[in-house]
Amino acid sequence: MSLRHLTCTADLSFQEIEYVFSMAEGLKKALAKGKRENFLEGKTLALIFEKSSLRTRVSFEVAMSQLGGNSIYLSRHDMDLGHREAVKDVAHTLSRYVHAVALRTFAQGIVEEMARNSTVPIINALSDAYHPCQALTDLFTIREKLGKLEGLTLSFIGDANNVARSLACLSARFGIYFRIASPAGYQLSPAFVEGLERQGRGVAKAAPDKLIYLTDDPREAARGADVLYTDTWVSMGQEQEAEVRRKVFKDYQINNSLVRLAKEGGLVMHCLPARRGEEITDEVLDGPRSIVFDQTENRLHIQKAILKFLLGSQGGRRQKGGDGSPPEAEKGADTTRRTGKR
Ligand code: CP
Ligand code: NVA
Repeated sequence: MSLRHLTCTADLSFQEIEYVFSMAEGLKKALAKGKRENFLEGKTLALIFEKSSLRTRVSFEVAMSQLGGNSIYLSRHDMDLGHREAVKDVAHTLSRYVHAVALRTFAQGIVEEMARNSTVPIINALSDAYHPCQALTDLFTIREKLGKLEGLTLSFIGDANNVARSLACLSARFGIYFRIASPAGYQLSPAFVEGLERQGRGVAKAAPDKLIYLTDDPREAARGADVLYTDTWVSMGQEQEAEVRRKVFKDYQINNSLVRLAKEGGLVMHCLPARRGEEITDEVLDGPRSIVFDQTENRLHIQKAILKFLLGSQGGRRQKGGDGSPPEAEKGADTTRRTGKR
């Protein structure tokens, strides 16, 4: 398999995502039993972070360490990406030193430019447009908790931001009904929704035009949902809009009265960091429906599986069943599942 990147979830086929999930499950179980594998021995991951991070940075660094490799963290001040030197020069340079790059930045175009110019995998560790590693973790966590994905209703309350977009993309492909309640002016664009409906075509049982539902009413979105999800009203890079956003989003909070509208036993998720008292209340975040810290933990297991998959795809270390590349039958498979069979 040739060089692969993870700039957004569409870079992985449905079968590859399933493969990443199964590797993550295996790695999670192995870690719990105290088993270690040095699959990434001698490999280095560069982490370029132009925005702050706790979970993404730490989970990637721990993932590399647990798999026998190492990582180098480069903050905005170290790199000054695109200012001190061109993005493509950074990509060419790092390709000569490291085996993969995780990049957290602003414009999605920067992630894509890095990928076009790199000879090692580029992983989007969050851009203004997408957060694919988070959404992969979230679906993995939902299936771990509820035993399935297809046919569930995932209701996102708040800003149609990077996390919401990646969740919407993956939901369409897994036959999850994705509802999003956002105020006017902060909703998903019609072009994006149309793209989702196209991705949802061919998904077993799901009616593509119903896979995504937009509303400005959080109560309507929450009613009967299997999962309620929220994220900050003010993403990194939007700090100047904070005051306006806090007013616009004030009714888009997951609190106990909203949780009561969800399905009995419905779950509450948040990618974190949370602004407690804004998009989610303490009682919900710390309450019995919250699986927020299981989500957080799973970032590590999914990060390990992503690294194993992408670094395994560069060849040279292929071993049947353990090299991080998907089974032969799944290679080059379509991006969307076409039957109900798993
Ligand atoms: N959820 C998430 O990406 O957290 P960090 O910003 O702390 O990495
Ligand atoms: N939407 C948030 C997610 C943080 C993990 C942001 O971009 O700041």
